[in-house]
Order: sequence, then C-alpha cells, then structure tokens
Amino acid sequence: MIQFLLNQTLKTEHALDPNLTVLNYLREHLHKSGTKEGCASGDCGACTVVVGELTTDDDGQEHLSYRSLNACLTFVASLHGKQLISVEDLKHRGELHSVQKAMVECHGSQCGFCTPGFVMSLFALQKNSTCADSAQAHEALAGNLCRCTGYRPILAAAEQACGQQRPTDQFDALKAQTIARLKAIKPAQTAELNSGDKRCLVPLTVADLADLYDAYPQARLLAGGTDLALEVTQFHRTLPVMIYVGNVADMKKIEHFDDRLEIGAATALTDCYEALSHEYPDIGELLHRFASLQIRNQGTLGGNIGNASPIGDSPPLLIALGASIVLRKGKETRTLALEDYFIDYRVTARQESEFIEKIILPKANAKQAFRAYKVSKRLDDDISAVCAAFRVQVENGAIVDARAAFGGMAAIPKRAANCEKALIGQPWTSATVERACAALAQDFTPLSDFRATKEYRLLSAQNLLRKYFIELQTPHIETRVTDYV
Ligand SMILES: Cc1cc2nc3c(=O)[nH]c(=O)nc-3n(C[C@H](O)[C@H](O)[C@H](O)COP(=O)(O)OP(=O)(O)OC[C@H]3O[C@@H](n4cnc5c(N)ncnc54)[C@H](O)[C@@H]3O)c2cc1C
Ligand code: FES
Ligand code: FES
Repeated sequence: MIQFLLNQTLKTEHALDPNLTVLNYLREHLHKSGTKEGCASGDCGACTVVVGELTTDDDGQEHLSYRSLNACLTFVASLHGKQLISVEDLKHRGELHSVQKAMVECHGSQCGFCTPGFVMSLFALQKNSTCADSAQAHEALAGNLCRCTGYRPILAAAEQACGQQRPTDQFDALKAQTIARLKAIKPAQTAELNSGDKRCLVPLTVADLADLYDAYPQARLLAGGTDLALEVTQFHRTLPVMIYVGNVADMKKIEHFDDRLEIGAATALTDCYEALSHEYPDIGELLHRFASLQIRNQGTLGGNIGNASPIGDSPPLLIALGASIVLRKGKETRTLALEDYFIDYRVTARQESEFIEKIILPKANAKQAFRAYKVSKRLDDDISAVCAAFRVQVENGAIVDARAAFGGMAAIPKRAANCEKALIGQPWTSATVERACAALAQDFTPLSDFRATKEYRLLSAQNLLRKYFIELQTPHIETRVTDYV
C-alpha cells in the first residue's frame, strides 16, 4: 500500500500496476487529462507535474520543497509519502493561478498541448525563487518544448509571473496544513505497491534495501526512473519487480568531510551538482548542460553511474577527479575506484544483489586544475557526443600528475592511459599537449552513430585537450595557473 497527497486529498493505493506512470495514473485512473503526453521519453515537458516533499536541513528543520518532474518517467510508487500537484490544482476558487494569468496575458499559449507543462514549470520556478532572472527562467523552461516556436511570449510570462515579488497563493496559505499532512503520512516501514505478480518495494533504510535486494536478486533498482522508465514507455517491456531507492534517507544525503564529499547514490542530480559546483565550478557549469531541470530533479547520481552508459555525463568527470564508489551487498561493503566499475558495454563490476550506496569524491586541491567539457548537438537537454574531463597538476613547470577521462569515445567511460603517459613528467607546453593529442588516437577507436562520426569524436577529444591547455593560460585564471607553472 502507498499513500500520498493528491494536492490536499489523501490517496491510498493498494493494488496498482507498479509499471504505471504518474502520467497514465492521472489521465486514465483519475481522468485528469490536463497533463499531456507528448513523447513519453522525458524530452518535451508536456507531462510536467510538481511534487512536494518534506526535506530536513542541517539543523534538523523540516521544509516543504517543490520540484518539477516529468510524469511520463515517474512510476506511481515513487510518490509514496509525497504531494502531487497537477495543472488542475492551480486554478483556485474560479481564479486562474498567477502563472496561468501571465501565460494568458502575454499570449504564451498557442496550442493546448504544451501549455500545461509550461505552466507547471513556471509554477515550480515561482515556488523556488523570490525573483527569478532570465537565466533562471531559461533553465526552468529548457525541458519544455514549444513546437510552434512561441518562446518569446512564454519567457515574457515567466518574467511577469516569476520575475518580481510573487503574490501568495493557495499553496502558501495551506503550507502548514500540507506539512502536517505529509508528516502524518510519513512512511514508517517498507511499503509495497503490487498487482498480480508485479511489485514495487519501497524501503526506508539501507539495511532494508540490502535485505530486499538479497531476497529479490532479479529486481530492478528504481531511482529517478529517467532511464529505467524508458524500458516501459519506449520498449513496452514489463518490469515485474522493482525496488525504489528514492525513499532511503541515508542514500539521499551529502556529507562534507575535510578531505572528501560522500554523496548518497539516491541524491537527485540537482542537489549533487549544486554541492559539487562549490568544490568544482566546472561541474556546476556542466550541470546546466545535463538534460533538463525536470530530469535533474528526478534523476540521481547513482542512476547515472548505475546505467553504465558510455555517454553518461557524470562518470568521466568523477573518474578524472579520482572518485570511488561504495558498493553494498547485504551487510558487506567494498570500495572501488569508479574507473574499475565499468568493465565493458553496460557490463559492470556489480555483483548480484549489490548496489551503489554512495559516491566518494576528493575535495578540490588548489594544485590541481580541473576542467570538464561536453559536446552535444543542442545546448540544452541533449546527450553528449563527447564528454571530457581533465585534471592536471604542474610543479616547477613539469606535469607531476594527469588524469584525462572521456565519455562517448569507447564502450565505457574511460581514462586515456596513453594520453596521460604522454603528459606526466613532461613540461606543460603546447608541444607536450600535441604529443598527448596524438597519443589519444591510440587510446580510443570511437564509433560513428547519429550523434557524431568517429572522426568527429576523435578530433573533438583532441581539441578539448587543446582547449583545456589554452584555458589554463588565460589571464582570468592566471592566479590558479601560476600555482603550477
Ligand atoms: C530526456 C533525457 C535527457 C537525458 N540527458 C542526459 C544527459 O544530458 N546526460 C546524462 O548523463 N544522462 C542523461 N539522461 C539519462 C538519465 O537521466 C541519467 O542517466 C540519470 O542520472 C539516471 O538516473 P536515474 O536516477 O533516473 O536512474 P534510473 O532510471 O532510476 O536507473 C538507471 C539504472 O541504474 C540502476 N540504478 C539506479 N540506482 C542504482 C544504485 N544505487 N545502484 C546500482 N544501480 C542503480 C537502475 O537499476 C537502472 O538500471 C537523460 C535522460 C532523458 C530521459
Ligand atoms: S511526455 Fe514528453 S516529457 Fe513526458
Ligand atoms: S504553444 Fe504549444 S507548441 Fe507552441
């Protein structure tokens, strides 16, 4: 049985197909057809809904946080203990919500199809910012497609509704009540949503997750579902047993130690990248190029590693930074360098019933220069053709340490061993970099596909190393560079 608030109404579901998405639940079970299906693959944003959740800050205070998600990639079981808000909930006492009014007044709605998704993204933006600037508006809307190219009036609506002190709404008025209701339904033990032989288990602790995975080794782990749900929505497969990791509190926290960060595998990408960007500003930059806000709000770092995609964005960055992962099976844990996790195309070192519990990342070292780059066809909401990350340490003009990791160049995210060898011990000069670029050709034989040809991939990888070298010579980072050169 799972429980959640549908706006302010308590919903208790005993028997639902765990493969049911929130989109189909809203439309087909509740006959709320305001939320639309455009693509069922997380690309268009027509299905955007907002999910409210209680979060606890460092002082132990509980807060209500609202985030936009793609309902088409969210399974119903992951709503357990949360609040679901769909576009139908915005109009109050016959009055449109201020974001809806702004869309009308700015002529932001040309078709009825994408508009509910834009409205919900604007609603989430309004809830998360006191006075959003244009960059925040662009970020909030990057996962919503308007096929008739009507973005200008939609951005005007964003400015009107979110760019100034916002008026209070019914959600503000009911905030204390919502928090009290969410506390009242706060899960206290493992929940299960099932139908026939299909089930999704929702544990709350790492120990319970480990026990369940032991008991159901064939289960698929469900984190944000932004990859996994595609198996259902795009390939029409059935996932008979899932274990949802998103309610395991200990896997959703980020801990700061003197020398490292420990990031729970079920932490949303939005939260991970925010924490990481303080240590490594380049990771923050790349965040804005990672999918869309909806996907980052629901997708997790553990899922980005767990899917073992050769074109996932986080693994090359984390490998270049020397990250490791803690794998757990039952009560046993082991720590593995992230680069050793990836063995072959979608083959990993993970054993049966073993899962990624956390990711460990060394804190920034002022002597090391880290940069990350993503090459994709579109700026927003696109998967990498090539992703590269470099971390070089230079002392007295010579390279004493170098790590270069790439995505999109091989069947797995991988370090460029020959390239690194050509750098270490050499002077930090363009001649050395040229030799390292030549060595890259021995490290990789990339494939051609619809994202890029093999020639383009290799040349891009080489040019990214050149770009890294040039960037480190530029005046605005001279203070950092002079530490090493
Ligand atoms: C529209 C769209 C755009 C995207 N853009 C990008 C992009 O720009 N860059 C990018 O890198 N990716 C992108 N992705 C892919 C995806 O969003 C990310 O890989 C995301 O991090 C997956 O995380 P998740 O929590 O949603 O994983 P899920 O879908 O829940 O799981 C993915 C896989 O990992 C496994 N898994 C989950 N948690 C664990 C764990 N703790 N231990 C072991 N295995 C686990 C699952 O069983 C599953 O096999 C995109 C996806 C979509 C739909
Ligand atoms: S229907 Fe297109 S993102 Fe969900
Ligand atoms: S307004 Fe819907 S596609 Fe442009």
